[in-house]
Amino acid sequence: MKFFIRTFGCQMNESDSERVAGILEHAGALRTGRAEEADLLIVNTCAVRQKSEEKLYSYLGRLAALKKRKPVQIGVVGCVAQLRGTDLLGKNPAIDFVLGPDNYDQLPQLIGASSHEKHVLTSWSKEWKEFPPQLIVRESSTSAYVTVMEGCDNFCAYCIVPYTRGREKYRPLRSIVSEVSHLAERGYREIQLLGQNVNSYHDPESGHGFPELLHRVARVDDIAWVRFLTSHPRNFTPQIAETMAALPTVCRQLHLPLQSGSTAILKKMKRGYTPENYLDIVALLRRLMPHISLSTDIIVGFPGETEKDFEATLDMLKTVRFTNIFSFRYSPRPLTEASRLEDDVPLAEKTRRLEEVQKLQREIQLENHRAQVGQTMPVLCLGQAPKTPHLYTGRNEGFEVVNFCSPIDCRGEFVRVCITGYGPYSLRGERVNE
Ligand code: 5AD
Ligand code: SF4
Repeated sequence: MKFFIRTFGCQMNESDSERVAGILEHAGALRTGRAEEADLLIVNTCAVRQKSEEKLYSYLGRLAALKKRKPVQIGVVGCVAQLRGTDLLGKNPAIDFVLGPDNYDQLPQLIGASSHEKHVLTSWSKEWKEFPPQLIVRESSTSAYVTVMEGCDNFCAYCIVPYTRGREKYRPLRSIVSEVSHLAERGYREIQLLGQNVNSYHDPESGHGFPELLHRVARVDDIAWVRFLTSHPRNFTPQIAETMAALPTVCRQLHLPLQSGSTAILKKMKRGYTPENYLDIVALLRRLMPHISLSTDIIVGFPGETEKDFEATLDMLKTVRFTNIFSFRYSPRPLTEASRLEDDVPLAEKTRRLEEVQKLQREIQLENHRAQVGQTMPVLCLGQAPKTPHLYTGRNEGFEVVNFCSPIDCRGEFVRVCITGYGPYSLRGERVNE
């Protein structure tokens, strides 16, 4: 039995796919990178925006066509599975099973099940469910995801995540530290702590919060870089910034979703902070760590967003000068509070705003990158660059993509790279000797 996994969505989904692969391999199945070769096709799905969900439906259409040529089992897992459940079977009869994120342990029972029998499992677990880390089949042998919490209690007005991932659940600190120690022993150099709302982490056994988690993970020998995501400005306390600054292995890098630069829109989004609060956090971070690299998420065209609100978002981008942003047109999502508001910004206007945000950010990134030419910096080499295989690719401490030439294979290693060129989305360089 061969299986193929296609993953949509965030790092949490990528990490879940590594677990799904582990469960299937443990049950005796073999992974293939080619859908045409597989007997079992798994799609791990994202529901966060309408477009993410639409991409899934068109992909499922392709898999259904494949199924006409060859008998295969199709399983839909992840956030859309949790959200739509049985409805998915009506939408696409080629699907054999639907599994929500808390139900992956049921996979072995479903492999090879009769195609006449459909299965939909979308139950919640209120407690943290421990997953044996040795089962995880990791994509990288250099940088590892380590889940520390799941779910979200913030209920931002636009966001579906509390309905696909449920309430917050925290993993015991000792289990996190033990996984990180094993990863260090196996040669991992970078750890990315994952959770939908990582800053609200607290150890269910001792009550220790996120700063203690950072201390304990940073103390593990041989882990050179620790990152974490996703943060929420409401839960990002000054103590977290101080802890980052005190721990040199915690990267000087933070993804801190802003969403909007308008006080009124942030209020409607139920974000729990103002643009001034956000700027205070940025000022503190930059005072403690002058070169910290900041990235963010932006939504344009939220219900009621006026031109003035939108301009406030542009102003924030000009003020903060993020290293990178992820920007999206608002789309109403089922069950959310905002879905009851009139989606009154026309699509063409949302598109114009999105393009304007992206154009401004592109200029900022070009300027940020130009300023780095001639600098030499550590880069963690992650492999060959996909589009230019004569180059290696990696990330610098600020999580920027750096493509570089090196006379010797340096995958999995830290190398020093001198920046010689750039584009808006990556840096280009040459490896230099220590
Ligand atoms: N519409 C558009 N963007 C959204 N996001 C979340 N929900 C929506 C929505 N309904 C964006 C936010 C979030 C990122 C993961 O996706 O910017 O931070
Ligand atoms: Fe998408 Fe959110 Fe689910 Fe991640 S947690 S896959 S972003 S819906």
